[in-house]
Amino acid sequence: MKLCIIGTGYVGLVTGTCFADLGNEVVCVDNNLNKIENLKKGIIPIYEPGLEELVKKNYKNGKLKFSINLKDSVIKSDIIFICVGTPTKKNSNATDLSQIYSVSKKIRNYITSKFKIIVTKSTVPVTTGDEIEKIFLKKKSKKFFSVVSNPEFLREGEAIRDFVYPDRIVIGTSNARSNKILKNLYSPLISKGAKYINTTRRASELIKYASNAFLATKITFINEIANLCEKSNINVEDISIGMGLDKRIGSRFLRAGPAYGGSCFPKDTKAIVTTANKFKTNLSLVKSVIKSNQKRSLLLLNKVNAILKGKVKNKNICFLGVTFKANTDDMRDSSTLVMIPTLSKKGAIINYYDPTGEKNHFKKIKNVTFSKNVKSALHNSDLVIIHTEWNDFKSINFKSLIKKKNFIIYDMRNIYSPSKMKKAKIKYFGVGR
Ligand code: UDX
Repeated sequence: MKLCIIGTGYVGLVTGTCFADLGNEVVCVDNNLNKIENLKKGIIPIYEPGLEELVKKNYKNGKLKFSINLKDSVIKSDIIFICVGTPTKKNSNATDLSQIYSVSKKIRNYITSKFKIIVTKSTVPVTTGDEIEKIFLKKKSKKFFSVVSNPEFLREGEAIRDFVYPDRIVIGTSNARSNKILKNLYSPLISKGAKYINTTRRASELIKYASNAFLATKITFINEIANLCEKSNINVEDISIGMGLDKRIGSRFLRAGPAYGGSCFPKDTKAIVTTANKFKTNLSLVKSVIKSNQKRSLLLLNKVNAILKGKVKNKNICFLGVTFKANTDDMRDSSTLVMIPTLSKKGAIINYYDPTGEKNHFKKIKNVTFSKNVKSALHNSDLVIIHTEWNDFKSINFKSLIKKKNFIIYDMRNIYSPSKMKKAKIKYFGVGR
């Protein structure tokens, strides 16, 4: 099938590349010329395991093309996927849909008498599909297009696997023709076991938000239980195992740690509350999840303060990992964006190492230095904070790398075993243990 993907960000690039790999003719369009030129050279703007190889392979065999020409790309395609950004508006919890609507107006101009399906892949609030349809109907007849919702459920760092082996494919449309075409497009994944759901457009839009709000709730729940465990001398890992074995609960997303971050959970929880407000419904549970998560970084900072007995000034603190999770270079809503500046303000001297390199976010912050490897980051530490669960941090011989005798480890991802640390006579703190 001939596909046009608009927006070569995280979602668009992964979606376009994977569809090309399934044998479709894909053109990925972006209005950023530099990005398109780089993609043609095989330079990928994001870090996602396996993506670079897949882009290069499909670009080389001609299945994947890159272009800044929206007009030609839309005219030549049967299905158009809108994959542009839907960030949170500044100073409000509502979603900024300006990119979605501006792209929709442009696509509308290129709709001819050949039937086209317009798909929203970007996460968009309930009724956005209705609004896009209204934009098209102003100038085009209903028989030439159909607006469908097909949310992405890609985790950063696992995006290609999530595309190829999805738990489910959700198609929101009441148009039988579009449903048939999209089911056919996804048939290689359905034949490998992916569940295909056809529902209404609004339901599809809400499935995405409700899923992310539920996952954010699950994480926040175990984080709060971890707080209780710390006070009552219980290991939260035991609770996660004990709860997770109940099939109704499930073991995933029950790992206690720092505040959840990333490009989706913080944004989507706020957006679903705004949608509920619009429909005069109170999502009080999600509201308290947002609040609890916002407080979490301060709570962990209080613990840092307690571990250092209130003497943060001039202490050498090493952060291992600063991204919101492993296998991504994404810093969006990472809790280090709160923790590192706060500790710097309190006079700490901070060294950090992340496998994805130095971050601009910390360049102007006083006494914060990027170290090129784990060894140099650790060398002079009084306190080591393991923030991100990169594999590189899972078997470090701390004693041989840290010159100070009484260093302390605060393992925010519970990577290490407290009993082994005790045996090695290392002062160690985890989360909820
Ligand atoms: C998420 C959704 O999983 C995906 O379906 C959606 O489309 C986009 O948002 P992503 O943000 O890439 O994906 O990361 P995810 O692996 O879901 O983790 C989100 C956050 O939750 C991270 O900060 C992670 O550290 C945290 N987390 C996750 C926990 O703290 N504990 C857990 O048990 C799981």
